[in-house]
Amino acid sequence: MPVITTVDDLHEIYRRRVPKMFYDYCQSGSWTEQTFRENETDFDLIRLRQRVAVDMEGRSLKTKMIGRDVSMPVALAPVGLTGMQHADGEILAARAAEKFGVPFTLSTMSICSIEDVARETQAPFWFQLYAMRDEDFIDRLIERARAAGCDALVLTLDLQILGQRHKDLKNGLSAPPKLTARSIADMMTRVQWGLGMLRTKRRFFGNIVGHAKGVADASSLSSWTAEQFDPRLDWDKIRRIKEKWGGKLILKGILDAEDARMALQVGADAIVVSNHGGRQLDGALSSIRILPEIVDAVGSEVEVHMDGGIRSGQDVLKAIALGAKGTYIGRAFVYGLGAMGERGVTHTLEVIRKELDTTMALCGEKDIHDVGPQNLLIPKGFREAWEPCRRNG
Ligand code: GLV
Repeated sequence: MPVITTVDDLHEIYRRRVPKMFYDYCQSGSWTEQTFRENETDFDLIRLRQRVAVDMEGRSLKTKMIGRDVSMPVALAPVGLTGMQHADGEILAARAAEKFGVPFTLSTMSICSIEDVARETQAPFWFQLYAMRDEDFIDRLIERARAAGCDALVLTLDLQILGQRHKDLKNGLSAPPKLTARSIADMMTRVQWGLGMLRTKRRFFGNIVGHAKGVADASSLSSWTAEQFDPRLDWDKIRRIKEKWGGKLILKGILDAEDARMALQVGADAIVVSNHGGRQLDGALSSIRILPEIVDAVGSEVEVHMDGGIRSGQDVLKAIALGAKGTYIGRAFVYGLGAMGERGVTHTLEVIRKELDTTMALCGEKDIHDVGPQNLLIPKGFREAWEPCRRNG
C-alpha cells in the first residue's frame, strides 16, 4: 500500500477502484469545464506570506460553524450518489466526519437515506435539500430530517435545472448502473467495489425511491432533476422552506453579492459561496475569486462559507484568510472514500488538517481565528480582474 501524503494520492487510487461512470460523475464540470478547472487553479494564484521567529507552540484549528464546534473549519459537502462511489458511502463518510469532529452534509440525492445515516451515527449531520415541485414531498423530507436530529438544513439554490456534463450522458449515468456490455466489462475490473455493492442493499436513491411520486426513471439523476426539481424556485419559496424547517438554515450556491444580500434578508444563518463545483453554470467565476467581494458585502452580518476547488490545507487557509468562516470539501473526500472507504475519508481529513496546521504555523499564526488577509500575497488585479459588464460603460 502506498504511503498517503496528499489528497492526490487518494485520487489516484480512487481512479483505479471505482467504475468509470462514477469516477467521471465526480470528476467533471459542465460544458467546457472552465469553472471546474478555475476553482482549483485560482487557488494557485494566491501565495502565502512566510513569517519567522514567531512562537508557534500551542496551535489551534478549532472553531465554530453556525455555532457548532468543529475541529477545523472544514465540513463534508453534500455529494449526490456518494453510495455509488463505495458501498454505504454516506454512512462511512458520516462516521469519519463524526470521529474527526467536523460536520457531514447528506445530499438529497444520496444513496443511503436520512434514516440510514441517523441509525449508523451519533453526531447530528446536516441535510441538504433541493426545492422540489411537490410541496408535500419537501415537507416530508424536512420532517424526516428533523426526526433524524439534523441540526442544519442546507438549501441548494443553484441546481433547479441540471448543467450538462457530457461524460454523464455518454456513460448513461444511473444508480444503480444499467447493465450494458460496457458497464459490465468496466465493473468486472473493480472487484472490491463490486463485492461491496453485492453485500449492501443500498443501491438506489434512498431518500427518493418509495417516497416521491411521478418519476419515470428512478435511477436517473437527469430524469429526477427534470421531473422533480422546482424551476420556479424564488425567494418567497425559500422563505416558506425556512419557516417550515424552523432551524438553522444554510443557503448554498451564492456567487453574487446581490444574491448574498437577498440571502441575508431571508434570514439565512450562513451562505455557501459556491458554483456547485463547476458543475452548473460553466463560465461563472471560481468560488475563491468571488469570495472577498461577498465577504465585503455581507460578511459582518452572516456567516460566509465557501466550497469549490479545495484539495489541500493550504487552500483552506487561503479561503479562511479571505474571510470564509468555514469551507467544504466534496471531491477531496470522495477520492478518499472511493480509494479506501471510511479510512480513506479519514486520510483526506488528516492530510488536510496537517497541511492546514503546518501552513498556519509557517505563516506565523497559532490560532485559526487570527488567520486573515495579512497572511496572503494576492496578485495585482486578482480582485478587480472581472467586473460587471455595463453597456456603453
Ligand atoms: C448534483 O448535486 C450534482 O451536481 O450532480
